[in-house]
Amino acid sequence: MPVVVAVPRETSPGERRVALVPDVAQRLVKSGVEVQVESGAGTQAFYTDDAYTKAGAKVLADRKGVVSAADILLKVQPPTPEEISWMKPGGIVVSFMNPTRALDSIQALRDRKLTGFAMELVPRITRAQVMDALSSQANVAGYESVLIGAEACPKYFPMLTTAAGTVRPAKVLVMGAGVAGLQAIATARRLGAIVEAYDVRREAGEQVRSLGAKFLELQIDAKGSGGYARELTAEEKVLQQKLVSDAVANADVAITTANVPGRKAPRLIEKDMVARMRPGSVIVDLAAESGGNCELTRPGETVVVNGVSVIGPLNLPSKLSFHSSQLYSKNLQAFLELLVGKDGKLVPGFTDEILAASVLVTNGEVKYAPTRDLLAGGAK
Ligand SMILES: NC(=O)c1ccc[n+]([C@@H]2O[C@H](COP(=O)([O-])OP(=O)(O)OC[C@H]3O[C@@H](n4cnc5c(N)ncnc54)[C@H](O)[C@@H]3O)[C@@H](O)[C@H]2O)c1
Repeated sequence: MPVVVAVPRETSPGERRVALVPDVAQRLVKSGVEVQVESGAGTQAFYTDDAYTKAGAKVLADRKGVVSAADILLKVQPPTPEEISWMKPGGIVVSFMNPTRALDSIQALRDRKLTGFAMELVPRITRAQVMDALSSQANVAGYESVLIGAEACPKYFPMLTTAAGTVRPAKVLVMGAGVAGLQAIATARRLGAIVEAYDVRREAGEQVRSLGAKFLELQIDAKGSGGYARELTAEEKVLQQKLVSDAVANADVAITTANVPGRKAPRLIEKDMVARMRPGSVIVDLAAESGGNCELTRPGETVVVNGVSVIGPLNLPSKLSFHSSQLYSKNLQAFLELLVGKDGKLVPGFTDEILAASVLVTNGEVKYAPTRDLLAGGAK
Protein backbone atom coordinates (compact mmCIF):
# COMPACT_ATOMS: atom_id res chain seq x y z
CA MET A 1 0.00 0.00 0.00
CA PRO A 2 1.45 3.39 -0.95
CA VAL A 3 1.67 6.15 1.64
CA VAL A 4 -1.37 8.42 1.30
CA VAL A 5 -0.71 12.15 1.49
CA ALA A 6 -3.92 14.16 1.77
CA VAL A 7 -4.71 17.85 1.46
CA PRO A 8 -8.00 19.25 2.75
CA ARG A 9 -9.32 22.70 1.87
CA GLU A 10 -8.25 25.32 4.41
CA THR A 11 -11.28 26.53 6.36
CA SER A 12 -9.71 29.14 8.62
CA PRO A 13 -11.24 32.59 7.85
CA GLY A 14 -9.15 34.58 5.36
CA GLU A 15 -6.82 31.68 4.54
CA ARG A 16 -6.38 31.44 0.78
CA ARG A 17 -3.29 29.25 0.62
CA VAL A 18 -3.15 25.53 -0.08
CA ALA A 19 -0.52 23.19 1.35
CA LEU A 20 0.23 21.38 -1.92
CA VAL A 21 0.28 22.78 -5.46
CA PRO A 22 -0.24 20.53 -8.52
CA ASP A 23 3.44 20.65 -9.55
CA VAL A 24 4.58 19.27 -6.24
CA ALA A 25 1.66 16.82 -6.14
CA GLN A 26 2.94 15.43 -9.44
CA ARG A 27 6.43 14.93 -8.02
CA LEU A 28 4.99 13.09 -5.03
CA VAL A 29 2.87 10.87 -7.26
CA LYS A 30 5.95 10.06 -9.37
CA SER A 31 7.81 9.06 -6.23
CA GLY A 32 5.13 6.45 -5.49
CA VAL A 33 2.99 8.36 -3.01
CA GLU A 34 -0.79 8.49 -3.39
CA VAL A 35 -2.07 12.07 -3.25
CA GLN A 36 -5.67 12.91 -2.32
CA VAL A 37 -6.95 16.47 -2.50
CA GLU A 38 -10.29 17.83 -1.36
CA SER A 39 -12.16 19.39 -4.25
CA GLY A 40 -11.68 23.17 -4.21
CA ALA A 41 -8.58 23.01 -1.97
CA GLY A 42 -6.54 25.11 -4.40
CA THR A 43 -9.29 27.40 -5.70
CA GLN A 44 -8.37 30.47 -3.64
CA ALA A 45 -4.76 30.16 -4.74
CA PHE A 46 -5.83 29.64 -8.36
CA TYR A 47 -4.90 25.97 -8.65
CA THR A 48 -7.86 24.13 -10.19
CA ASP A 49 -9.20 20.66 -9.41
CA ASP A 50 -8.40 19.83 -13.00
CA ALA A 51 -4.73 20.69 -12.54
CA TYR A 52 -4.51 18.33 -9.55
CA THR A 53 -6.21 15.55 -11.51
CA LYS A 54 -3.75 16.05 -14.38
CA ALA A 55 -0.93 15.86 -11.84
CA GLY A 56 -2.13 12.38 -10.91
CA ALA A 57 -3.84 13.27 -7.63
CA LYS A 58 -7.28 11.99 -6.65
CA VAL A 59 -9.67 14.92 -6.22
CA LEU A 60 -12.54 14.06 -3.89
CA ALA A 61 -15.52 16.04 -2.64
CA ASP A 62 -15.74 14.11 0.63
CA ARG A 63 -13.78 16.23 3.09
CA LYS A 64 -13.99 13.75 5.94
CA GLY A 65 -12.99 10.95 3.58
CA VAL A 66 -9.86 12.82 2.45
CA VAL A 67 -8.76 13.56 6.02
CA SER A 68 -9.43 10.03 7.27
CA ALA A 69 -7.51 8.45 4.36
CA ALA A 70 -4.32 10.33 5.20
CA ASP A 71 -1.18 8.71 6.46
CA ILE A 72 0.21 12.22 6.22
CA LEU A 73 -2.10 15.22 6.28
CA LEU A 74 -0.66 18.43 4.82
CA LYS A 75 -2.08 21.74 5.98
CA VAL A 76 -1.30 25.44 6.14
CA GLN A 77 -3.22 26.33 9.31
CA PRO A 78 -3.22 23.99 12.33
CA PRO A 79 -5.68 21.11 11.97
CA THR A 80 -8.99 21.77 13.69
CA PRO A 81 -10.16 19.47 16.51
CA GLU A 82 -12.82 18.22 14.06
CA GLU A 83 -10.23 17.31 11.42
CA ILE A 84 -8.16 15.61 14.10
CA SER A 85 -11.17 13.56 15.18
CA TRP A 86 -11.37 12.23 11.59
CA MET A 87 -7.70 11.24 11.31
CA LYS A 88 -6.84 7.58 11.28
CA PRO A 89 -4.86 5.95 14.11
CA GLY A 90 -1.14 6.55 13.63
CA GLY A 91 -1.84 9.53 11.34
CA ILE A 92 0.69 12.34 10.91
CA VAL A 93 -0.02 15.98 10.22
CA VAL A 94 2.56 18.43 8.88
CA SER A 95 1.52 22.07 9.12
CA PHE A 96 2.06 25.41 10.76
CA MET A 97 0.90 24.52 14.26
CA ASN A 98 0.89 27.81 16.19
CA PRO A 99 2.66 25.92 19.01
CA THR A 100 1.83 28.44 21.72
CA ARG A 101 -1.69 29.30 20.57
CA ALA A 102 -3.47 26.34 18.93
CA LEU A 103 -3.58 24.50 22.23
CA ASP A 104 -6.95 22.80 21.67
CA SER A 105 -5.68 21.19 18.47
CA ILE A 106 -2.37 20.12 20.00
CA GLN A 107 -4.18 18.64 22.96
CA ALA A 108 -6.51 16.75 20.61
CA LEU A 109 -3.50 15.33 18.72
CA ARG A 110 -1.90 14.32 22.01
CA ASP A 111 -5.05 12.66 23.33
CA ARG A 112 -5.54 10.69 20.12
CA LYS A 113 -1.84 9.71 20.14
CA LEU A 114 -1.37 11.21 16.67
CA THR A 115 1.79 12.92 15.42
CA GLY A 116 2.03 16.61 14.61
CA PHE A 117 5.06 18.24 13.01
CA ALA A 118 5.22 22.04 13.32
CA MET A 119 6.84 23.87 10.41
CA GLU A 120 7.63 26.69 12.87
CA LEU A 121 10.01 24.34 14.68
CA VAL A 122 12.14 23.31 11.69
CA PRO A 123 15.66 24.21 12.85
CA ARG A 124 17.48 26.96 11.00
CA ILE A 125 20.39 24.82 9.91
CA THR A 126 21.77 24.85 6.38
CA ARG A 127 20.33 21.46 5.44
CA ALA A 128 16.85 22.60 6.47
CA GLN A 129 16.85 25.85 4.50
CA VAL A 130 14.77 24.31 1.74
CA MET A 131 12.10 23.44 4.35
CA ASP A 132 12.16 26.81 6.08
CA ALA A 133 8.52 27.77 5.75
CA LEU A 134 8.82 30.64 8.24
CA SER A 135 11.29 32.26 5.86
CA SER A 136 9.40 31.52 2.65
CA GLN A 137 6.25 33.07 4.07
CA ALA A 138 8.01 35.97 5.82
CA ASN A 139 9.51 36.87 2.46
CA VAL A 140 6.02 37.22 1.01
CA ALA A 141 4.87 39.29 3.98
CA GLY A 142 7.80 41.66 3.60
CA TYR A 143 7.05 42.23 -0.06
CA GLU A 144 3.32 42.74 0.55
CA SER A 145 3.94 45.17 3.40
CA VAL A 146 5.64 47.60 1.02
CA LEU A 147 2.82 47.41 -1.51
CA ILE A 148 0.32 48.16 1.26
CA GLY A 149 2.44 51.06 2.50
CA ALA A 150 2.89 52.47 -1.00
CA GLU A 151 -0.82 52.30 -1.68
CA ALA A 152 -1.78 54.05 1.55
CA CYS A 153 0.93 56.71 1.20
CA PRO A 154 -0.11 59.91 -0.61
CA LYS A 155 3.38 60.29 -2.08
CA TYR A 156 5.32 58.77 -4.97
CA PHE A 157 8.02 56.34 -3.85
CA PRO A 158 10.54 57.15 -6.63
CA MET A 159 12.20 60.45 -7.38
CA LEU A 160 10.64 61.93 -10.50
CA THR A 161 11.75 64.76 -12.70
CA THR A 162 8.77 66.01 -14.67
CA ALA A 163 7.80 69.12 -16.62
CA ALA A 164 5.68 70.07 -13.63
CA GLY A 165 8.61 69.88 -11.29
CA THR A 166 10.75 67.45 -9.35
CA VAL A 167 9.29 65.03 -6.85
CA ARG A 168 11.48 63.92 -3.98
CA PRO A 169 11.54 60.19 -3.18
CA ALA A 170 9.59 58.85 -0.24
CA LYS A 171 11.42 57.87 2.93
CA VAL A 172 10.80 54.35 4.13
CA LEU A 173 11.94 53.09 7.53
CA VAL A 174 12.10 49.33 8.05
CA MET A 175 12.33 48.24 11.69
CA GLY A 176 13.54 44.69 12.17
CA ALA A 177 15.80 43.42 9.39
CA GLY A 178 15.11 39.68 9.48
CA VAL A 179 13.69 37.80 6.52
CA ALA A 180 10.55 39.96 6.13
CA GLY A 181 12.42 43.19 6.81
CA LEU A 182 15.13 42.48 4.24
CA GLN A 183 12.53 41.70 1.58
CA ALA A 184 10.68 44.92 2.52
CA ILE A 185 13.91 46.88 2.09
CA ALA A 186 14.60 45.30 -1.30
CA THR A 187 11.04 45.93 -2.50
CA ALA A 188 10.96 49.56 -1.32
CA ARG A 189 14.32 50.15 -3.01
CA ARG A 190 12.99 48.68 -6.27
CA LEU A 191 10.15 51.19 -6.09
CA GLY A 192 12.73 53.96 -5.73
CA ALA A 193 12.27 54.99 -2.10
CA ILE A 194 15.08 56.11 0.19
CA VAL A 195 15.28 53.35 2.77
CA GLU A 196 16.61 53.31 6.31
CA ALA A 197 16.52 50.24 8.48
CA TYR A 198 17.56 49.05 11.84
CA ASP A 199 17.69 45.94 13.93
CA VAL A 200 18.93 45.09 17.39
CA ARG A 201 21.26 42.53 15.79
CA ARG A 202 24.20 44.59 14.60
CA GLU A 203 25.21 41.91 12.09
CA ALA A 204 22.05 42.77 10.12
CA GLY A 205 23.77 46.04 9.16
CA GLU A 206 25.85 44.44 6.45
CA GLN A 207 22.81 42.85 4.79
CA VAL A 208 20.88 46.12 5.02
CA ARG A 209 23.68 48.10 3.40
CA SER A 210 24.13 45.51 0.66
CA LEU A 211 20.51 46.19 -0.35
CA GLY A 212 21.26 49.89 -0.77
CA ALA A 213 19.67 51.05 2.47
CA LYS A 214 21.16 52.98 5.39
CA PHE A 215 21.55 51.07 8.65
CA LEU A 216 20.77 52.99 11.83
CA GLU A 217 23.52 52.15 14.28
CA LEU A 218 22.18 51.85 17.81
CA GLN A 219 25.35 50.66 19.61
CA ILE A 220 23.38 47.66 20.87
CA ASP A 221 23.99 44.08 19.85
CA ALA A 222 21.16 41.85 20.94
CA LYS A 223 22.07 38.73 19.04
CA GLY A 224 20.69 35.76 20.93
CA SER A 225 20.93 32.05 20.22
CA GLY A 226 20.09 30.39 16.90
CA GLY A 227 20.35 33.60 14.85
CA TYR A 228 17.37 35.17 16.63
CA ALA A 229 17.28 38.29 18.75
CA ARG A 230 17.29 38.20 22.56
CA GLU A 231 15.03 40.47 24.58
CA LEU A 232 16.52 43.90 25.38
CA THR A 233 17.27 45.06 28.93
CA ALA A 234 15.28 48.03 30.33
CA GLU A 235 18.25 50.38 29.83
CA GLU A 236 18.78 49.26 26.26
CA LYS A 237 15.10 49.82 25.55
CA VAL A 238 15.29 53.49 26.62
CA LEU A 239 18.34 54.11 24.47
CA GLN A 240 16.72 52.37 21.52
CA GLN A 241 13.52 54.43 21.76
CA LYS A 242 15.39 57.72 21.90
CA LEU A 243 17.41 56.91 18.80
CA VAL A 244 14.51 55.48 16.88
CA SER A 245 12.04 58.26 17.62
CA ASP A 246 13.70 60.72 15.20
CA ALA A 247 13.87 58.16 12.42
CA VAL A 248 10.16 57.42 12.83
CA ALA A 249 9.25 61.11 12.82
CA ASN A 250 11.11 61.50 9.55
CA ALA A 251 9.54 58.52 7.73
CA ASP A 252 6.76 58.64 5.15
CA VAL A 253 6.24 54.90 5.58
CA ALA A 254 7.44 52.87 8.57
CA ILE A 255 7.32 49.10 8.23
CA THR A 256 7.80 47.17 11.45
CA THR A 257 8.73 43.49 11.44
CA ALA A 258 10.38 42.97 14.84
CA ASN A 259 9.76 39.73 16.65
CA VAL A 260 11.32 37.68 19.42
CA PRO A 261 10.30 34.01 19.02
CA GLY A 262 7.78 32.76 21.57
CA ARG A 263 7.21 36.23 23.07
CA LYS A 264 4.92 39.16 22.56
CA ALA A 265 6.30 41.43 19.83
CA PRO A 266 8.58 44.20 21.16
CA ARG A 267 7.03 47.67 21.31
CA LEU A 268 9.04 49.94 18.99
CA ILE A 269 6.68 52.83 18.18
CA GLU A 270 4.91 54.54 21.07
CA LYS A 271 1.88 56.81 20.73
CA ASP A 272 3.97 59.97 21.17
CA MET A 273 6.26 58.87 18.35
CA VAL A 274 3.25 58.54 16.04
CA ALA A 275 2.23 62.08 17.08
CA ARG A 276 5.58 63.35 15.74
CA MET A 277 4.97 61.87 12.26
CA ARG A 278 3.73 64.05 9.38
CA PRO A 279 0.03 63.72 8.41
CA GLY A 280 -0.25 61.30 5.50
CA SER A 281 2.47 59.05 6.88
CA VAL A 282 1.85 55.34 7.18
CA ILE A 283 2.85 52.60 9.59
CA VAL A 284 2.52 48.99 8.41
CA ASP A 285 2.88 46.73 11.43
CA LEU A 286 3.77 43.18 10.42
CA ALA A 287 3.85 42.14 14.06
CA ALA A 288 0.12 42.91 14.44
CA GLU A 289 -0.60 39.22 14.98
CA SER A 290 1.83 38.85 17.88
CA GLY A 291 0.83 42.01 19.78
CA GLY A 292 2.11 44.74 17.45
CA ASN A 293 5.33 46.78 17.29
CA CYS A 294 3.28 49.99 17.46
CA GLU A 295 1.25 50.96 20.52
CA LEU A 296 -1.71 52.02 18.34
CA THR A 297 -1.90 48.90 16.17
CA ARG A 298 -5.16 47.03 16.14
CA PRO A 299 -4.81 43.59 14.49
CA GLY A 300 -6.65 43.42 11.18
CA GLU A 301 -7.60 47.11 11.25
CA THR A 302 -6.39 50.52 10.09
CA VAL A 303 -6.37 53.21 12.75
CA VAL A 304 -5.94 56.84 11.62
CA VAL A 305 -4.52 59.25 14.20
CA ASN A 306 -3.78 62.89 13.24
CA GLY A 307 -3.63 61.83 9.60
CA VAL A 308 -1.20 58.97 10.26
CA SER A 309 -2.51 55.55 9.18
CA VAL A 310 -1.51 52.65 11.40
CA ILE A 311 -2.19 49.45 9.47
CA GLY A 312 -2.17 46.06 11.21
CA PRO A 313 -2.52 43.49 8.43
CA LEU A 314 -3.11 39.84 9.25
CA ASN A 315 -1.87 36.82 7.31
CA LEU A 316 -0.20 38.69 4.46
CA PRO A 317 1.17 35.50 2.83
CA SER A 318 -2.44 34.52 2.18
CA LYS A 319 -2.85 37.63 0.02
CA LEU A 320 -0.24 36.43 -2.45
CA SER A 321 -1.77 32.96 -2.31
CA PHE A 322 -0.45 31.64 -5.64
CA HIS A 323 3.21 32.12 -4.88
CA SER A 324 3.06 31.66 -1.12
CA SER A 325 1.38 28.27 -1.71
CA GLN A 326 3.99 27.33 -4.30
CA LEU A 327 6.86 28.11 -1.92
CA TYR A 328 5.23 26.50 1.11
CA SER A 329 4.48 23.44 -0.95
CA LYS A 330 8.17 23.15 -1.89
CA ASN A 331 9.07 23.43 1.80
CA LEU A 332 6.69 20.55 2.56
CA GLN A 333 8.01 18.44 -0.31
CA ALA A 334 11.52 18.65 1.12
CA PHE A 335 10.21 17.85 4.59
CA LEU A 336 8.31 14.80 3.27
CA GLU A 337 11.55 13.41 1.85
CA LEU A 338 12.64 12.92 5.46
CA LEU A 339 9.39 11.20 6.42
CA VAL A 340 8.91 8.89 3.42
CA GLY A 341 11.87 6.70 2.47
CA LYS A 342 13.08 5.88 -1.05
CA ASP A 343 11.16 2.57 -0.71
CA GLY A 344 7.93 4.63 -0.50
CA LYS A 345 7.36 3.66 3.14
CA LEU A 346 7.13 5.82 6.25
CA VAL A 347 10.52 6.12 7.93
CA PRO A 348 10.26 4.54 11.39
CA GLY A 349 11.09 6.72 14.41
CA PHE A 350 11.85 10.40 14.02
CA THR A 351 15.58 10.23 14.55
CA ASP A 352 16.63 12.68 11.85
CA GLU A 353 17.76 15.91 13.53
CA ILE A 354 15.18 17.99 11.64
CA LEU A 355 12.30 15.63 12.41
CA ALA A 356 13.34 15.35 16.06
CA ALA A 357 13.35 19.14 16.41
CA SER A 358 10.06 19.75 14.66
CA VAL A 359 7.92 16.98 16.13
CA LEU A 360 5.56 18.92 18.36
CA VAL A 361 3.45 16.01 19.56
CA THR A 362 3.63 12.25 19.14
CA ASN A 363 2.59 9.09 20.89
CA GLY A 364 0.50 10.90 23.50
CA GLU A 365 3.34 13.25 24.43
CA VAL A 366 3.87 16.94 23.70
CA LYS A 367 7.57 17.15 22.83
CA TYR A 368 7.97 20.92 22.64
CA ALA A 369 8.53 22.23 26.18
CA PRO A 370 6.88 25.69 25.85
CA THR A 371 3.66 24.07 24.60
CA ARG A 372 3.85 21.39 27.29
CA ASP A 373 4.22 24.10 29.95
CA LEU A 374 1.27 26.06 28.57
CA LEU A 375 -0.93 22.96 28.57
CA ALA A 376 0.16 22.11 32.12
CA GLY A 377 -0.45 25.72 33.22
CA GLY A 378 -3.97 25.64 31.86
CA ALA A 379 -4.49 22.26 33.62
CA LYS A 380 -5.48 20.70 30.30
N1 LIG B 1 18.74 28.76 7.85
C1 LIG B 1 19.18 29.84 8.42
O1 LIG B 1 20.33 29.92 8.82
C2 LIG B 1 18.26 30.99 8.64
C3 LIG B 1 17.01 30.94 8.08
C4 LIG B 1 16.13 32.01 8.26
C5 LIG B 1 16.53 33.11 9.00
N2 LIG B 1 17.78 33.15 9.52
C6 LIG B 1 18.22 34.31 10.26
O2 LIG B 1 17.54 34.41 11.49
C7 LIG B 1 17.38 35.77 11.83
C8 LIG B 1 15.94 36.10 12.22
O3 LIG B 1 15.05 35.72 11.22
P1 LIG B 1 13.47 36.07 11.23
O4 LIG B 1 13.20 37.05 10.18
O5 LIG B 1 12.69 34.82 11.20
O6 LIG B 1 13.30 36.77 12.65
P2 LIG B 1 12.00 37.18 13.46
O7 LIG B 1 10.78 37.18 12.59
O8 LIG B 1 12.00 36.41 14.72
O9 LIG B 1 12.35 38.72 13.81
C9 LIG B 1 12.45 39.71 12.82
C10 LIG B 1 13.58 40.66 13.14
O10 LIG B 1 13.25 41.48 14.26
C11 LIG B 1 14.43 41.80 14.94
N3 LIG B 1 14.14 42.35 16.27
C12 LIG B 1 13.76 41.70 17.40
N4 LIG B 1 13.59 42.58 18.41
C13 LIG B 1 13.84 43.82 17.90
C14 LIG B 1 13.81 45.13 18.44
N5 LIG B 1 13.50 45.35 19.72
N6 LIG B 1 14.12 46.16 17.63
C15 LIG B 1 14.44 45.95 16.33
N7 LIG B 1 14.49 44.74 15.76
C16 LIG B 1 14.19 43.68 16.53
C17 LIG B 1 15.18 40.48 14.93
O11 LIG B 1 16.56 40.68 15.16
C18 LIG B 1 14.90 39.99 13.51
O12 LIG B 1 15.91 40.39 12.60
C19 LIG B 1 17.88 36.54 10.63
O13 LIG B 1 19.22 36.87 10.86
C20 LIG B 1 17.86 35.57 9.52
O14 LIG B 1 18.77 35.88 8.50
C21 LIG B 1 18.64 32.10 9.36
